[in-house]
Formats: sequence, C-alpha cells, structure tokens
Amino acid sequence: MALYSEKVMDHFTHHRNVGVIENADGVGEVGNAKCGDIMKIYLKIDNDVITDVKFETFGCGSAIASSSMATEMIKGKPVSEALQLSNKAVAEALDGLPAHKLHCSVLAEEAIKAAVKDYYDRHGIAYDPSEFAEGSCAHCHE
Ligand code: FES
Repeated sequence: MALYSEKVMDHFTHHRNVGVIENADGVGEVGNAKCGDIMKIYLKIDNDVITDVKFETFGCGSAIASSSMATEMIKGKPVSEALQLSNKAVAEALDGLPAHKLHCSVLAEEAIKAAVKDYYDRHGIAYDPSEFAEGSCAHCHE
C-alpha cells in the first residue's frame, strides 16, 4: 500500500489557497517545535463568515496537504465552525495520513485557531480563552 493516499498527493502537488491575503482580518502562525516546520494562515472574514483563506507553509508534504485541505474545508464557513475543525477531520478528509505524520495535520488546526484568535483580538470580540489553550498537542501527544 502506498504511504500516502491519492488525496494527500493531490493536495500536495496541486495545493489550493496558497499565498498571502493583504489586509487579512486574522493571521495565525504556528510552528512545530519538533520538526521546525511553520504554517501561516490568513483569513478574510465578513459578517462572521470566512470569505477567503490563504496559507503559507514551510514544511513537509503532509503539512502542505493538510493546510490545503483545511483551507478548503473552512472557506465559506462561519468562524465558529472553523474553530471546530479538528486535525482528525483534516486527516480523514485526506483519506488518512501515516501515523507518524498525523502531527503535521495538527499544525493546520492550530494555525486556523491562532488566526481566529487574532481576528477576535483585533476586533475586540470576547471569547473563551480555554478554546485556544496552547502548548500541548492533545491530539497526537507529540
Ligand atoms: Fe513537520 Fe510534518 S514533519 S509538519
């Protein structure tokens, strides 16, 4: 069996939504301390709906495929829904990632959360800080 699913290869080689949004409403940047990879997500938000999303990822193929899939999954969705996006859902949408690559999808989840938090902070919107707890990856224990 191939290590990576066709969907992973597709999103890696034809990644969607790469780039920068000038005047983004929220920007989130996260890094994986273990591998040194970095992911940055830009959100354009109108009336609490994500109207555009772009990413820059300096990292492995799985991180790029995860970012590409994650941006597709949150585009056009309400901010509250984007916050619910888990790395598991991203990995499932990619038809799975190898176990040792699951942590790469966590970067996508965390970058989206960081961008939403930035949006809330910039716009003075109240939120529950526990939704944005940092530091540990509860999903993959990396
Ligand atoms: Fe670093 Fe995949 S190995 S994010």
